[in-house]
Amino acid sequence: MCGIVGVVAPREHIEKEVVARSARQSADAHSSFPTLKDIIFSSLERLAYRGYDSSGIALLGEEGGAQRIYLEKSSGKIGRLAPKLSYLPEHASLGMGHTRWATHGPPTSINAHPHRLRGMALVHNGIIENYEELKKKAEESGITLLSQTDSEVALATLHLLAAESTFEKALLRLSEVLQGCFALVVMREAAPHSLYILKRGSPLVVGFSQEMNFCASDAYALSDLMCEVLFLEDGDVGVLEEGGYRPLAGPSKTRLPSDAVYIRSGETVELGQEHRGSKASYPYFMYKEILEQPTVLTHLLQRSVLSADGDTEGSQGPWALDEEVLGLAGLDLSRITHLHVVGCGSAYFAGMIGRYAFESQARIPCFVELASEYRYRKPCISAHTLVIAVSQSGETADTLACVRYAQSFGAQVLVVCNVAYSSIVRQATSALLMGVGPEIGVASTKAFSAQVLCLYLISQAFAARKGLAVVEEGKSIQMLCAKFKEVLALESAVKGWARKLQKQKSVLFIGRFTHAAMAYEGALKFKEITYIHAEGYPAGELKHGPLALIDGNMCVIALAPRDEHYLKVVSNIAEIKARGGRVFVLATEQDHKLSDLCEQVIQIPALSCAILQSVLFGGALQLLAYHTALILGRDVDQPRNLAKSVTVE
Ligand code: M6R
Repeated sequence: MCGIVGVVAPREHIEKEVVARSARQSADAHSSFPTLKDIIFSSLERLAYRGYDSSGIALLGEEGGAQRIYLEKSSGKIGRLAPKLSYLPEHASLGMGHTRWATHGPPTSINAHPHRLRGMALVHNGIIENYEELKKKAEESGITLLSQTDSEVALATLHLLAAESTFEKALLRLSEVLQGCFALVVMREAAPHSLYILKRGSPLVVGFSQEMNFCASDAYALSDLMCEVLFLEDGDVGVLEEGGYRPLAGPSKTRLPSDAVYIRSGETVELGQEHRGSKASYPYFMYKEILEQPTVLTHLLQRSVLSADGDTEGSQGPWALDEEVLGLAGLDLSRITHLHVVGCGSAYFAGMIGRYAFESQARIPCFVELASEYRYRKPCISAHTLVIAVSQSGETADTLACVRYAQSFGAQVLVVCNVAYSSIVRQATSALLMGVGPEIGVASTKAFSAQVLCLYLISQAFAARKGLAVVEEGKSIQMLCAKFKEVLALESAVKGWARKLQKQKSVLFIGRFTHAAMAYEGALKFKEITYIHAEGYPAGELKHGPLALIDGNMCVIALAPRDEHYLKVVSNIAEIKARGGRVFVLATEQDHKLSDLCEQVIQIPALSCAILQSVLFGGALQLLAYHTALILGRDVDQPRNLAKSVTVE
């Protein structure tokens, strides 16, 4: 989703650097010393993984002795903005940039941010819900809006408020007038050393380095800039200046030492080299992330499983799990009577798979709900509820809202997350950090598998506490990573399927038990990067409707491991075959029965644990989506219309 970066540099610093730059350039024509616009541009490049469809940069520079806002914007990928950087001034000491993910109005360069109006410019993440009413007021006051965005309306509203009072009062008033969620950064020709900041609902951080101060929509944007980070909170309104962050209102202001004006330091965020997420020699991040799974899942297991066979002294049952790593040590589990698992997209499907282990093995009631629906149905939440929020990014707006909602009823919240400093991790009672390294591809792969594994491990910790854990489960977990490697070795067979599926208009994915949830996930992965319609369905539900879709043009991917549901899935496959449907089966090893009933079978290594078996099927389905998308020439890492970090509801 949208990304923001803003920089305030002391003027003397910039002047010194520009002199040094020209000296170096005369000695070395290829000198690449960064100016403010370079810094902003490379921060925007780091934010690109969030998903966007246009970008822009505004810098404050001097013209004829007066301050002027210089602005360059472009639709499409950030590479289209790069050639326009030469039109921006070298000497600027204040600037901001933005990557936009369109909500109001198409991704044109006019709708791209920053927006400029009468000596002010603004960038915005989030959605202004009352923008129509505000737009009417702005137009009635004679302001001509150029774009179709809610963001430009916020700028016009600020302009009107500023006409009635001081600018800082207008800013405070704006935060009251705007409804919805937003992170806003404003610059003014009248204030050449200040960036004005408002935050409610959308993430925003402020960073302090030796030379400059920054703001950005996530700490990752600042990861090359060696700075300490202050995480702003909802309700914060303030000014970023050379001296630091000057809070005007909000939670950060109340933390300011009594006689101080500025906050000048924050947390040292250790993002590390690996946080930068290099593609190395792989063609796509998604491919790299699929192939990394045996390694990252092994690390996750090494961190969290002390013993899977009960050898560890004092372990209850066969499992000895590190409850500290699993995020359980910080919770009062004695009062928990039931679980609510919430997440969006793949995280929700991971929850659906996890539920089987919570209920069938740990025997604890578990409800799984889409985070975007959860709070609107007013679920029964109490101090006895443990909410498990599942989110790779830790920034998904709906999931974050669920966490806050559940906490307001006294529930404890455990988040399963991949990003240590994310909003949800900071909000939750406790966190299980998956630690699988950055996932840059929009399609979740290694994070999804890790989410399933984490939920499974949490369920086993619950089961172990009750003395319910099963030795057989421990054996499966010890084999998971080796078996995953074997799945990846099936790539060329999967490619063969991709060649056959590439011309399909629609593909159905079916399975039973945990594999029904995996069918949903397989369909999601397939549709989001191939743009071919795909639907996941529990195999037992076919007769209740979807069977009507079956004819010679329909391809069905069936998940059919040799478990207690096997014969029922075989019957479902026969029903499809009888109606002319083309069936491709993911079976488990040594299954020779299905070849007569289907077009092709790929045999996946078998595991006795159904949850972990699903993870193996997942690996094959990820490869299938990837190779089909590749054949179709899709933008595998950044599929159209989608964002990695979904920070609006
Ligand atoms: O960061 P999150 O795990 O909260 O993201 C949730 C979904 O947006 C995400 O899983 C999405 O469905 C993926 N693109 C699926 O591949």
